[in-house]
Amino acid sequence: MNKDELLKTAEEAADRAYCPYSHFRVGAALVCADGSIVTGANIENRSFGLTLCAERSAIVKAHSLGKTEYKAIAISCPDADTPVSPCGACRQVLSEFVGADFPVYFCGKDRENHVETTMGELFPFDALHNLKDGL
Ligand code: THU
Repeated sequence: MNKDELLKTAEEAADRAYCPYSHFRVGAALVCADGSIVTGANIENRSFGLTLCAERSAIVKAHSLGKTEYKAIAISCPDADTPVSPCGACRQVLSEFVGADFPVYFCGKDRENHVETTMGELFPFDALHNLKDGL
């Protein structure tokens, strides 16, 4: 699956968001080490702080299915005019499972206008990975 197909899969996953409070759909598509794709979507709660973002929803789903290593993630916010990057909580959670070279793609409603970056750029000085390699 190429980058655009992955972003499209994330966009489709956004349709399965539960977001009655923000009306802001987010979808994620996580590529697992075995090549399979596990999707996630934001799941809100009336106790707002309990909302689970699409990225964490994908990680939790994949890991609990026994898929514990990952190759890339794509995130789509079809209700946004511009690309929306993962929140700080999601960066922290992702950093538990992936290294600095892990590719992260994100877009808004226009998949062509996407950002292609890495976990290391989004979350530098990650104590779990980078620092133990002497970075
Ligand atoms: N959200 C995500 O799912 N991922 C992000 O990267 C940004 C924010 C969700 C949380 C909430 O349900 C809605 O978007 C509005 O913030």
